[in-house]
Amino acid sequence: MIIAVDGPTASGKGTIAKALAAHFGLPHLDTGLLYRAVGRQVALNGGNPDNPVDALAACGFADDLLADEILRSEAVGGFASRVSVHPAVRRALFDRQRAFALQPGGAVLDGRDIGTVIAPEAQVKLFVTASVAERARRRWLEMTGRGIAADLAAIERDIALRDERDMNRADAPLMAAPGALVLDTTTLGRDAAVAAAIAAVAVHRS
Ligand code: C5P
Repeated sequence: MIIAVDGPTASGKGTIAKALAAHFGLPHLDTGLLYRAVGRQVALNGGNPDNPVDALAACGFADDLLADEILRSEAVGGFASRVSVHPAVRRALFDRQRAFALQPGGAVLDGRDIGTVIAPEAQVKLFVTASVAERARRRWLEMTGRGIAADLAAIERDIALRDERDMNRADAPLMAAPGALVLDTTTLGRDAAVAAAIAAVAVHRS
């Protein structure tokens, strides 16, 4: 069974994808991490994330980079969003994601285009979303919880900008796949959101 979990940043899709993978005993791939690694590698190369040649050159990042905590930073997230608009970057990362989705027994992948491009045949497609204000609040809590100084208004602006870029790019824009179940987590706590997702997958399986 392939489970596709798409949605904007800080919607809860990563938490939900991880919980689904654990519950159904499936391997999980956070595809945003691949774009973050490309964004980080561009910076390490001294390149420009808006330049498609620099961005493509960064797709050859070493796998060790995927474990680097710095990939979780807001700055790298912004770079990831910028490199992800280039079709050549999306093509370069396609095979790896596709192979993960097609492994025997199935998989859970979370990202922006899993249900639309990477695995349109997924048996279950979830589109996890929440209001910009709530997503900014979560990101702020997460950052201040880790001892990082954060400005709520700046985070909200950044999230809105990232949404805008992800939804309006020509190649594989962020959108709910046809037939996807939309799960709005704005007013749901973590456990309620996970329970709703597990219930949705269980219905599709039966
Ligand atoms: O999900 P995460 O915030 O880690 O993703 C970082 C960026 O990578 C997103 O803003 C998006 O632009 C890009 N991305 C993408 N397609 C995916 C996953 C992430 O374009 N499947």
